[in-house]
Amino acid sequence: MTPYYTDSHTTLYLGDSREVLPALDLTADAVITDPPYGETSLAWDRWPAGWLEVAAATAPALWCFGSWRVFGPRWHEFTEAGWKFAQDVVWEKHNGSGFASDRFKRVHETVTHWYQGAWADVHHAVPRIAGGEPRRGVLRAGRDPKHHGAQRASVDVRDGTILVRSVLYARSMHGSAVHPTEKPVKGLLEHLVAYSCPLGGLVLDPFAGSGSTLVAARESGRRSIGVEASEEYAELAAKRLSEIDAQPALPFEVTA
Ligand SMILES: C[S@@+](CC[C@H](N)C(=O)[O-])C[C@H]1O[C@@H](n2cnc3c(N)ncnc32)[C@H](O)[C@@H]1O
Repeated sequence: MTPYYTDSHTTLYLGDSREVLPALDLTADAVITDPPYGETSLAWDRWPAGWLEVAAATAPALWCFGSWRVFGPRWHEFTEAGWKFAQDVVWEKHNGSGFASDRFKRVHETVTHWYQGAWADVHHAVPRIAGGEPRRGVLRAGRDPKHHGAQRASVDVRDGTILVRSVLYARSMHGSAVHPTEKPVKGLLEHLVAYSCPLGGLVLDPFAGSGSTLVAARESGRRSIGVEASEEYAELAAKRLSEIDAQPALPFEVTA
């Protein structure tokens, strides 16, 4: 299959990901995607039936953007495709995306994290950011290890960093977006990439849009494959990626 765009880290295909991905027969570390939820009047905004099975055949972990209006009715589609729920994070925006006078002003979106197989086999490295002392004390010697376990001990590292929180604040792309539902790289996608894919690993976005996930992977030293059904958006993604590829590669771990 001929890519629409390729560079040292990234390959983008133009087409329906439910057809492209089975043909590629690849294995990725994680799918990180923002699918069409079917919540707007945009022409492409139709939930693509069957995509969760295709994603499950491709990677052991999935981050999926959405809202509880999407996840609630479709929860069984995730589990029937083999996905087990791991956690959710909230993207807190600086402004709202839709307003209704009879609801709270909505300034967030949800990202759900799913996995298959054994949790221990799924790459999960919570990014740490500069943050001074952690809020809780270190585990004292002799404390019952069953009480908090090894996970707690790793939280309490006094090295001047803290775990990235599950509520991620990042300004929305309002005003600068090239895609109507573009997601921010900095402060949002970069953390999902760093969490679920090792350096040099492979991220997949079956609904690439303007290529934000691919840009986050590229800037974090990860490889990525994207699929986008619209040539207009594929072209925007290719343009963004080619501008990054013109810069020297920076294969460092994202920490902030
Ligand atoms: C919510 S948008 C993703 C936007 C992206 N997160 C960004 O930051 O630009 C979903 C995208 O999926 C594309 N799409 C819809 N159905 C598709 C399919 N079956 N295969 C591949 N892409 C599809 C749409 O054209 C749209 O650009």
